[in-house]
Amino acid sequence: MKVEGKQFQTIWLNNSYDETIIIDQRQLPFQLKTSRLKAIEDAFYAIKNMAVRGAPLIGVTAAYGLYLGILNSKKPDFDTHLIEMADYLKSARPTAVNLAFAVDRVVNKCSGLTQKEATGFALNEANKLKDEEEQSCNLIGDFGVQLIEDIYAKKKEPVNILTHCNAGWLACIDWGTATAPIYKAHQKGIPVHVWVDETRPRNQGARLTAYELGQEGVPHTVIADNTGGHLMQHGKVDIVIVGSDRTTIKGDVANKIGTYLKALAAHDNNIPFYVALPSSSIDWEIEDGLVEIEIEKRDAKEVSHIEGWDGKEIISVRLIPEKSNAINYGFDVTPARLVTGLITEKGICQACKEGILGLFPEKKAYPASSKGGKFKK
Ligand code: MRU
Repeated sequence: MKVEGKQFQTIWLNNSYDETIIIDQRQLPFQLKTSRLKAIEDAFYAIKNMAVRGAPLIGVTAAYGLYLGILNSKKPDFDTHLIEMADYLKSARPTAVNLAFAVDRVVNKCSGLTQKEATGFALNEANKLKDEEEQSCNLIGDFGVQLIEDIYAKKKEPVNILTHCNAGWLACIDWGTATAPIYKAHQKGIPVHVWVDETRPRNQGARLTAYELGQEGVPHTVIADNTGGHLMQHGKVDIVIVGSDRTTIKGDVANKIGTYLKALAAHDNNIPFYVALPSSSIDWEIEDGLVEIEIEKRDAKEVSHIEGWDGKEIISVRLIPEKSNAINYGFDVTPARLVTGLITEKGICQACKEGILGLFPEKKAYPASSKGGKFKK
């Protein structure tokens, strides 16, 4: 998508294939800065510290990170080192399943090879994954735009879409997941307006979604996270589209904290609530999202403080009394019963096992619930 009229993707390789370049999302929307990942540790910290974030982009960054690790590997027992590097990358953030998915794909291509042989295979697989993620988002856009078109055909007025967090192109490679149908609608001339949840504590909505929609010229309004229910009660939301960090085979959706509350409000107001996701965000091994998905807990400082631009630089200021405790859950789980449908690269389906397997029949043999109850509190 575009930044200042110029076409961008979120991640790319340098000309000599020994560095991965990313947009440092911690600087947005105030400054557009890139940074160079030269080693596996750089990729690990870019993911952990959220210079890159969003499930598909986390996965692709990890794939390139593993490639860099393989390229620079000097350890004698390469197969053991490969697994160590994979485990290290997977530990960067726990919730988005794309991380393990991407790392495992590279490992599967490289195990049993020499370091030299594996380097080419890893690069190839990371490039392939990146292309697939871009293509999935493109297709999600093509399927999802039909929902927006249908609303417009009935309403004949701008379609109001509410979204949470940033499931935009910045969270992916291009297009985004939740935003792909919006961008496609905008490009087709369908009038749309997006309610952007600010998404405390890190404000990915206010900082990133608003930024990218603005760069593409899509009309939008940033709202405080608590506003959506009120807007829905007053007929100002036609459809909710959010992304996903992990979706179970039964259709439970882990997404940025606060998504569940929007789903409840949408349900109460009969507003369609769709989740847009590539199949790389489906965890084929689990069914019950509430029990089986590990929810990331991040630094409480993201809650107790807030970041902003003082005209020269990004500063952080305290919001809460010095002695008050704060806690920071990164994600929540929206049960499948609150999800109207899943928009995937293979089409739109109901949020249930039959619906998902109808689109992905090749996954039927997968053993669901092998991790049963692992993260139960
Ligand atoms: O913590 P983040 O910023 O990595 O969270 C990811 C998100 O932005 C989402 O929850 C998003 O909706 C799904 S990723 C396309």
